[in-house]
Amino acid sequence: MVSGTCVIGLQWGDEAKGKLVDLLAPQFDLVVRYQGGANAGHTVVAGDETYKLHHIPSGILHSEVQNFITPGVVINPSTMLDEIDGLAARGIHCEKNMRVSERAHLVMPWHIAEDKIINSTAVRGESIGTTNRGIGPCYRDKVGRTHAIRMADLVQDSRDERIGTVAAQKVELLSKMGAPQEDLDTIAPEQVIAQATGWAERLSGMIGDTTEILLTACEADKRILFEGAQGALLDIDHGTFPFVTSSNSSGVGVCAGAGVPPKWINHVLGVCKAYSTRVGGGPFPTELDDSTGEKIRKLGNEFGTTTGRPRRCGWFDAVALRYTARLSGVTRLALMMMDVLAHFEELKVCVAYELDGKRLESFPAHADQLRRCKPIYETIPGWNQPVDDVRTVGDFPSGALAYVKRIEELVGIPVGVLSVGPDRAQTIFTEAADVLNLHSLA
Ligand code: IMP
Repeated sequence: MVSGTCVIGLQWGDEAKGKLVDLLAPQFDLVVRYQGGANAGHTVVAGDETYKLHHIPSGILHSEVQNFITPGVVINPSTMLDEIDGLAARGIHCEKNMRVSERAHLVMPWHIAEDKIINSTAVRGESIGTTNRGIGPCYRDKVGRTHAIRMADLVQDSRDERIGTVAAQKVELLSKMGAPQEDLDTIAPEQVIAQATGWAERLSGMIGDTTEILLTACEADKRILFEGAQGALLDIDHGTFPFVTSSNSSGVGVCAGAGVPPKWINHVLGVCKAYSTRVGGGPFPTELDDSTGEKIRKLGNEFGTTTGRPRRCGWFDAVALRYTARLSGVTRLALMMMDVLAHFEELKVCVAYELDGKRLESFPAHADQLRRCKPIYETIPGWNQPVDDVRTVGDFPSGALAYVKRIEELVGIPVGVLSVGPDRAQTIFTEAADVLNLHSLA
């Protein structure tokens, strides 16, 4: 029986995928992070403890689950070791149940220096507003090949020579690009070689051929949960380019990033907030630059997990969701942060756009077009009642259920999971979740 389930963000990231992966992990044998890097910030709340994970898969709190970081992820070894040490200090020992692909690429100090330069460059009149984690430059070097460093390089005899050569070239390149001396100092060859020696010592026991392990696990009918990072609207090929991240963060990215062919994937849980947020630059048709947006930001504590930046907030955009749910092959939706919408007299949902005087039901490919799109809203009465303590579908106020039903109709996919707060217990599985074989959690 095929048994791959994906958790994919359908908006611009921060949809609370980490919470779901942690909750679902005990029903799986393996949890796989397959794209992105330390730009991600997955928050897991377990009782009184809150964990903020950047590289480490959100299944790590469950010692019986094997966790994998596969070839599509870009890894900053220093940051990952900090994460590993932070978890160890809290009794979670990654070396026991986590493996990292030898094919994964490394985010080197020069990538971070270059990211800062990218961030000060406007594209189409606006900065991309990256997380400054070196993600774009690292993926660029991966595709360019000549300057890439992979996990496997760390444990080869040729390591120092390879890193020294690339570092020397990067010093030259970045000084021409105008990098400040303090950043150039961080990429001096001797310094990076010493750093890499330390990384190799600490990480070598965790590095392995995750592709081989995953293929064997699929053939043995193991249950695998694929943990997406960012969201489908940030997908490098299918998102709001160029205001995107540098990996395939929609459902289409799972196979390439993980090294697992499509035949092993049979469920896709598409995760979205009951409203919209975006952090960084780029068009956002339903953005609320007013007191309502401010209210959502405050109630939802909408500040970046990785950068602390305030997130831009707005109403639910069903045009964008229809697009990303179809693109990602979503079989059920998980509608998160329902508690945040509990204090509004009325709510709005964008059902179509108006572009140059015409009604548009599909999601435009060009950022300039999307920027000109005006949302056409449908107003839905708010339920104006807290839902934090709701634990079954029947406990929801009828207004909240009407809102959920309308979203299902507009997106064309049933909601299988509803979330009313960060805690594991604040998760409600609907009858529609049966198809995912997750209903035993309800
Ligand atoms: P980068 O991934 O750091 O290159 O950033 C590119 C864009 O993606 C910026 O707008 C970031 O704010 C956004 N972004 C990257 N990772 C995340 C995430 O995990 N959540 C939300 N936005 C993200």
